Amino acid sequence: MAEVATLQRADELPLDYRSGLDAQNLLPAWTLLRALMPVGAAAPVAQPAQWSYAKLRPYLMRAAELVPMEKAERRVLGYVNPGLDRARLSTLPSIFFGLQLIMPGERAPNHKHIPAAARIIIEGEGAYTTVDGEKLHMEEGDVVLTPPLHWHDHGHEGKGPVVWMDVLDHPLAVPMDISYVVPGKMADGYNEQPDAGDTWYSCPGLVPYRAPGARGPDYPMRRFRWQRVKQALIASSEVASRDESVHMRYCNPETGESIMKTLDFSARMLRPGESVALKRASINRVFQIMEGNADIRVNEAAYGCGKNDTVAAPTYSAITLQNTSSSPCFIIQVDDLPTQTKLGFYEELA
Ligand SMILES: [Fe+2]
Repeated sequence: MAEVATLQRADELPLDYRSGLDAQNLLPAWTLLRALMPVGAAAPVAQPAQWSYAKLRPYLMRAAELVPMEKAERRVLGYVNPGLDRARLSTLPSIFFGLQLIMPGERAPNHKHIPAAARIIIEGEGAYTTVDGEKLHMEEGDVVLTPPLHWHDHGHEGKGPVVWMDVLDHPLAVPMDISYVVPGKMADGYNEQPDAGDTWYSCPGLVPYRAPGARGPDYPMRRFRWQRVKQALIASSEVASRDESVHMRYCNPETGESIMKTLDFSARMLRPGESVALKRASINRVFQIMEGNADIRVNEAAYGCGKNDTVAAPTYSAITLQNTSSSPCFIIQVDDLPTQTKLGFYEELA
């Protein structure tokens, strides 16, 4: 590599010059250049981190006593990365994870917003989300989508607490100064028709017939049932060769594109004892353990994980996933690959 010049620091400039620049809304860019573009390789600020559901759950349950729904709108405990400014409310620089709790009979009011959201259902039954009036039942492990600027609310008609993981892309939208929410009126009721995943998109490979050139809806399917995903992973593992990863991507059934424009969701099955080393790449990745136990190594950190635990792996991390249970381990991965490929930023390291 060529010799790297040491650039001038701001405090090496005369004070009157700096205050003159300040008054003109100017900064000497060379004094910040190395921080913005470290030489040779990125130096992620976010840190590898783990959140243990068993340790977090009591705090979440206590939130039900401490904050009524009308004072929270959404009762969510955010997973904040220890390396990032807490006010960013970010699990990784482009991804937010946070646990949401809803108690029997509660309703989280209708609203719509610019950040896109998806939920991964963690525990409990009887809750639902509606998106533009389409009622989506939430069963454990399901992924439920609420796209940007689509009206949505949540309710709970069952017994006991229901918890789901909120996954949002507000860490991308907020720095762009485009994030906002529009509160709406509580809907009077919903039709009880099955959702699109049980009707128009219930058969893999089959989509509604359209005129030539006609485009389908941007978000045709908003609920991806875990039981079907798991079934597909198990069936695929039975035909996959031993060295082939069983890893499948959630996609828009009309286009094959990612279910969120910004974030990719995919599901993995690790066979008992299986260990997978992932490619080092520029993407931010979060792993959510759905079933089984795993050791997740991120650079020098090693995390023993069980069901419902979460691990965040910053950009360019060396990552190994190992199933430590005697049964299959299922993991949902969320990453910002769609954003990075659209921006032309994605790279893999050799
Ligand atoms: Fe929302």
